[in-house]
This record gives sequence, C-alpha cells and structure tokens, in this order.
Amino acid sequence: MNMAVAKHEKWSSGFTFLLAAIGSAVGLGNIWRFPYVVGENGGGAFVLLYIGMVILFGIPVVMTELLIGRRYQMSPVNSLAHIGQDKPARRLWNALGWSYVLVPIGILSFYGVVAGWTLNYVVKMGSGALTGVDATTVENTFNGMMSDPVVMIFWQTVAMLITMGIVARGVKGGLEKAVEILMPALFIILLVLVAYALYAGDTSKAMDFLFVPDFSKLTGRSVLEAAGQAFFSLSLGSGAIMTYGAYLTKDISIPKMSCGVAFADTLVALLAGLAIFPIVFAHGLDPQAGPGLVFVTLPVVFDGMPFGQLFGILFFLLITFAAVTSTISLLEPMVSYLEERVPHMRLKMTFLAGAVTWAVGVLAALSLNVMSDVKPLGFIQRFADKGVFDLLDYFSANVFMLLNGLMIAFFAGWVMKRTALLEELGLEDSGLFKFWRLLIKVVVPIGVGLIFINFVTEGWL
Ligand code: PHE
Repeated sequence: MNMAVAKHEKWSSGFTFLLAAIGSAVGLGNIWRFPYVVGENGGGAFVLLYIGMVILFGIPVVMTELLIGRRYQMSPVNSLAHIGQDKPARRLWNALGWSYVLVPIGILSFYGVVAGWTLNYVVKMGSGALTGVDATTVENTFNGMMSDPVVMIFWQTVAMLITMGIVARGVKGGLEKAVEILMPALFIILLVLVAYALYAGDTSKAMDFLFVPDFSKLTGRSVLEAAGQAFFSLSLGSGAIMTYGAYLTKDISIPKMSCGVAFADTLVALLAGLAIFPIVFAHGLDPQAGPGLVFVTLPVVFDGMPFGQLFGILFFLLITFAAVTSTISLLEPMVSYLEERVPHMRLKMTFLAGAVTWAVGVLAALSLNVMSDVKPLGFIQRFADKGVFDLLDYFSANVFMLLNGLMIAFFAGWVMKRTALLEELGLEDSGLFKFWRLLIKVVVPIGVGLIFINFVTEGWL
C-alpha cells in the first residue's frame, strides 16, 4: 500500500465541515423516516428513547469515527489497514475498512432511488399534477410512480448524476459549495414549513403526540428501532462520517463537532415532525401511515390548504436538498479510496463509483415493479419475500451499519492507544474522557451487540 499518495483536500473551516457533516446526517432519515417511525411507535415516549440512543451510542461513535478518520487522513480502507497492520487481528480490521466503503455504496444504491422519488414529486407538485385532485388520485399517482420502471429509473439517474456532478468537483469545489448553498436553504424552508404547520394545523395535538410520553406504547422492538434510527440518522457505520473526518484539520475539536452534528440532526428530525404532524392531525389523518406518510398523506392535505401547492413544492424541495447532501457523503468514501489507488483521477473515479452504484440501484428500482418476483435470497426462509430493494436496505442500512459501529467502537476502545485517543480528541485525561472511553469499550459493544443479535435472530427482544 502506498501511503504517500494519500493526500486529500481538507475542509476550509470547522464551520464548513459542520455544514457537510450535518448535511450527511440530515436526510431522508430525518424527514421521511423519523416522522413515520415515531408515528408507528406511539409518539413522545419513542422520541425520548431515541434521544437517549443518540446520547448513549450516537455521540460516542460519531467521535470515534471522526477521530479515526482524522488521525490517518485516508479513506476508511487505508486508515483501518494502517492501524491494523501490526495487530494480531489484522485481517479483521482490513475487512472492517472494506465494509466501511462498501456499506455506503449499498445504501446509496437504494437511497438514490428514493431521492429520485422526491425529485419527481417536486416536479409533480410544480406542474399541478397533485392540485385539485381527490385522495384516490394522489394515491394512484404514488402507485403509478412505483409501478413504472422507466419513470423511476429516470429520476434515480437524475439523482445520481447530481450526486456525481458534485462529488467529482472535489472537497472544496464540490462538497463545500453544495452544502454552503443547500444547508442554509434547507433550514430556511424547514422553518417556513414549521411556521405554516403551527399556524394552519392542530398544534396542541401534534405537541402532545411528539412530546408527551406514554411509556405503555413502547415495546422491545421500539428499542431496536430507536437504535437503528439513531445510527442511520447520524450516518454511522457507513464511512461517511469517518471519511469526512479524514478531511478535518488538526485544530478542530472533535468532541464539540460531534455534539454539534448530533444536536442539529435531532433538532431537524423534531422540526420535521412539527412540520408534518400538526397538518396530519388537523385533517384527522392517521399518524401511523408508514412510508406513505410523506408521499401520499401530505400531498392530499396540502391540496386542501391555502397556498398548498407552494408549500407542497417547498416540502419536496426540502427533502430533495436533504437527500442530496446525504448522497454525496455516501459516494465520497468509495471515491476517496479510489483516489488513493489511482491519484489525480477524481473525475473518472467518481464516474466509476457512481456508475456501479447506479447499476445496483436500477436493480433495486426494478425490484419494486417488473422484477418484483425476483427474490435473490428466496432459498432462505426469512428473506423469501424480500426483493433487491429490501435486501439492500436490510443488509446495508441495518445489519452492517450496526455491525460496523459496534466493531469500530470496540477497535478504538481496546486496540488503539490511549495516548492517540487523548491527543485526537484534545481532551485532558478527565472524567469526560474516561466516560467516553467506558462507553465505547463496554456500553456500545454490549448494547449494540445485544440489539444486533436480537435483530438478526428476529427475537424482537
Ligand atoms: N443520515 C442519512 C439520513 O438520515 C442517511 C445516511 C446514512 C447518509 C449513512 C450517509 C451515510 O437520511
């Protein structure tokens, strides 16, 4: 391995890093998934549980991934190979490095498909296709998109081309420029939508639903969902945060940045809830509508509201911006690895990584319609009903994200030198450091391990 070639651009400032990392964290997970998972798990108590998971597992693992990235300043593959080289379990750490660049490719392949849906909906809203129609038509529109392979692949391709176009331009010229525009726009749109929802919707019901906990609604499965959601939402176990950490300069405080990312990510998820639930309740609709909450329930509601079309466009633009600032962070780990292999070829390497991801994504898109009979793991009973899309989601976004996060915490806790950790975190040998170390050495591996075993064995606690 040639370590000398591994020179990557660095973020211009702590602030641009923060925008990019928050951009990665804030995505479909916050605006599309969080509200419906909260809905399905009964509201306030789940929100509290989720916040607990962010503090207990999320922040310590964000710190760990950032510090490993920054210490070695390379892609996850080479960073982990480097630290593991003289260690007994060398192969294991190599494999972990690979998992950290392959998992984001797996996620991006189906995430790109959903990002395509949101782009499609910006246009549908804008063209008035969802204005002045009844609920059945809105539902048919969604089902129509799901069953049309050409439309779906077209929009997935657009989403992937946008992602590749940004990533190809590099850290400063691409990623930074994109997040500097998209993130402020995202926050402004979100605040406008929250204000609109609080004004036009049923605020008190939404507040009760989101913030008054009813613990009897929690089940063993909620714990699992909360942990999985926290990992997904913070982009952990997927190379994004570690790779972004590799572009950090040494003067920036990793503990502070980690708390900033976790705080902003959670805030956006809650604000997304406040933009959606007041409207859902005001119309007597079901908060447990599942994945269709955003694509079916909301368009119906917007249609019946003053300036509904305008706010509908804003809403889907919001999700699209959130999705794009995440897709770029999913492509970057692989591109940074390829750049280390073949220096000065970023454009070609981006195209290569993007094309492979796109091709897998096409299979994911087709598995929702024309290939819906194809069950690649059909010979295993529990996967018998899962097509490519569901399998990618299951393995990359659930199984391997948790596994990677667990391993990385274990690795930093037990294998890396204490002095290296202290130096990278810039913490004195204080109570705070000891607490963090206890979390990654013991609490995260055991906690996430139990959740993982339960998940894989479908024990559902
Ligand atoms: N955190 C993103 C979201 O909430 C998804 C993501 C996962 C992005 C992993 C990058 C890496 O939508």
